[in-house]
Amino acid sequence: MLNVTKIYFSPSNTTKKVVDQIASNFDDNKETYDLLNFNSSKELSSEDIAIVGMPVFAGRLPKSARDRLAKIKGNNTPAIAVVNYGNAHVTDALLELVDLLKENNFNVVAAASTVSHHSIFSGVAVGRPDESDIEKINEFSKKTKEKIESNESLKSEIPGNRPYVDYKQLPFEISCDETLCAFCYDCVSICPEKAIPDDDPIDTDLDLCSRCTACISICPEDARMFTGDAFETKKVDFESANSQRKEPEFYL
Ligand SMILES: Cc1cc2nc3c(=O)[nH]c(=O)nc-3n(C[C@H](O)[C@H](O)[C@H](O)COP(=O)(O)O)c2cc1C
Ligand code: SF4
Ligand code: SF4
Repeated sequence: MLNVTKIYFSPSNTTKKVVDQIASNFDDNKETYDLLNFNSSKELSSEDIAIVGMPVFAGRLPKSARDRLAKIKGNNTPAIAVVNYGNAHVTDALLELVDLLKENNFNVVAAASTVSHHSIFSGVAVGRPDESDIEKINEFSKKTKEKIESNESLKSEIPGNRPYVDYKQLPFEISCDETLCAFCYDCVSICPEKAIPDDDPIDTDLDLCSRCTACISICPEDARMFTGDAFETKKVDFESANSQRKEPEFYL
């Protein structure tokens, strides 16, 4: 029996959902590396199958997630590369993921860009991935499984440009409403950038913060949020510009 290794960075949980859905189409043993907390070296074998999911951040892979993934090496290990985006643009993220996996000795068999709710602009792609997305993801998974069984590699061209677009940090502020905070420190534990001080969850170091949304997503009191004029102004324009449904794309 092969070992299906799920590897993902998923601050607001939809990338995890997509990777789990792909993995559910394989009967094999399953192992998980959650890059929000897994930051170690690892080498997979040719008996493993890696399902690697990353969210798109500003048309690229999130920087820390990329650094963490770079520590996981393959050994001609079959890999499925997935980027998950918020119905705006994938830009160079899928190409970057496929390139990185190949550099690290994975045999990329298939790739996909899937659409999920936008983790910053909550009015975009609400409820996605939905039933129609899941159906397409299952179909893709079955075709990919057949390709792995017959030792085939990726044939399709992945869209994107090299050099990749420059990564642009979003200017939005993240704040914490002190009157709502229950001081559970879940946000401190999950933050991949150590941007929330151990002894003060109300504070956020915006120079360290990547705006990944993990702290907002995990907060049981909804105390953490994007705030500020720049965010409020952009939200209106962004939600109207990206209201038209986009579909997932699959590459075999
Ligand atoms: C910092 C940041 C930048 C983002 N940039 C993009 C983008 O360039 N294009 C896009 O369509 N969605 C973008 N999104 C939305 C995420 O890609 C999308 O919501 C993704 O599904 C989140 O995955 P998660 O639920 O696993 O965290 C961005 C989200 C964040 C937090
Ligand atoms: S403080 Fe910033 S980097 Fe840390 S979890 Fe929150 S959004 Fe992500
Ligand atoms: S997760 Fe929310 S409630 Fe818990 S410490 Fe952080 S801000 Fe406060």
